[in-house]
Amino acid sequence: MTIVVTGAAGFIGSNFVLNWLTHSEEKVIALDKLTYAGNLENLKSVEANANYEFAQGDIGDSRLVAKLLHQHQPRVIINFAAESHVDRSIHGPDDFMQTNILGTYRLLEEARSFFNTLSEVGQKQFRFLHVSTDEVYGTLSTNDRAFKEEKRYEPNSPYSASKAASDHLVRAWNHTYGLPVLTTNCSNNYGPYHFPEKLIPLCVLNALNGKDLPIYGDGQQIRDWLYVVDHCKGITTVLEKGVIGETYNIGGWNEKTNLEVVNTLCDLLDELKPREDGKSYREQITFVKDRPGHDQRYAIDATKISKELGWKPEETFETGIRKTVQWYLDHQDWVANVQSGEYQNWLTKNYS
Ligand code: NAD
Ligand code: TYD
Repeated sequence: MTIVVTGAAGFIGSNFVLNWLTHSEEKVIALDKLTYAGNLENLKSVEANANYEFAQGDIGDSRLVAKLLHQHQPRVIINFAAESHVDRSIHGPDDFMQTNILGTYRLLEEARSFFNTLSEVGQKQFRFLHVSTDEVYGTLSTNDRAFKEEKRYEPNSPYSASKAASDHLVRAWNHTYGLPVLTTNCSNNYGPYHFPEKLIPLCVLNALNGKDLPIYGDGQQIRDWLYVVDHCKGITTVLEKGVIGETYNIGGWNEKTNLEVVNTLCDLLDELKPREDGKSYREQITFVKDRPGHDQRYAIDATKISKELGWKPEETFETGIRKTVQWYLDHQDWVANVQSGEYQNWLTKNYS
């Protein structure tokens, strides 16, 4: 048996592939366009694994996707491929519409064509799992209840609007064509291989490089953080036990303000890699201009996946964030490789 994983060279996709190959004999076909966010270094440790194969390409390239599906006859397609960074979606939404909406549409169409060629047994086993985000639900005030699966979609950024559109397409392909889909909506992830344009890796690397730690606005916005490997295990659980056509929220029950997160990173670095001048990394915290349309709070109610499928996160924020900071300290080669020219251009564009 084989699974196709799109966006496999990105942050969560690569963690998923690495985790999958530790517990499954099923072969992984990793499909990735290798945009600025895709990095084959993330998958270096499995390059020689006979159960792993990489194909470079776009989920919106119907011919390529059709060829891959017919060649490998997968049991499962997991769609991680997306443009994923809110700030980039504000500077330039076009790629988000192309990949997240049109790309998902074309992938669904090829999945449907392929599904129709399967035997009855093959169709029974087949799943299309779409990986989405809590950002589609919009923003919460301090006293609002955490997002449940029934929450109305109210996306506020070009990124979340494009993800919301893709979720609706996935739902429609089940309802209209009977494609066996599952959707997961997860909160903010953190962990190894996180591209350093996102808050946590950006601040760890800026701290180590003696740069400012840029906090948007007053730093009181809240995110619900989940260790990436817990997310990957949640996806595997949904794949194994989820009910076709259902959506499952995945979250860490770890609501923190951005300022709390950055203070925690500074405290860990003070302990693990103290500054030469003996001062705290907190001194590098700088409040900068807020993100336009910045959502105040996200929080996931993960009761459904926990009660119905038996999944719970294994890491607390404290254990997960310590592992993450240590990982960045131990992987300076990876860090040096991702901080390429394109990355420097982004820093100039967003922070100057
Ligand atoms: P990422 O930006 O790190 O990785 C995305 C990957 O997709 C990259 O490898 C990129 O090369 C690839 N890609 C982009 N466009 C493509 C295309 N047209 N065809 C094929 N590959 C393409 O993103 P991530 O953080 O790993 O997120 C993965 C998925 O999980 C996304 O769908 C995202 O919306 C969702 N998600 C992310 C988070 C988070 O906190 N990072 C939380 C919830 C959900
Ligand atoms: P981010 O990692 O971009 O994820 P998302 O916007 O998808 O939640 O940002 C997490 C939070 O951190 C978000 O509230 C924006 C904030 N943030 C900063 O304060 N400074 C930064 O430099 C970045 C990148 C994010």
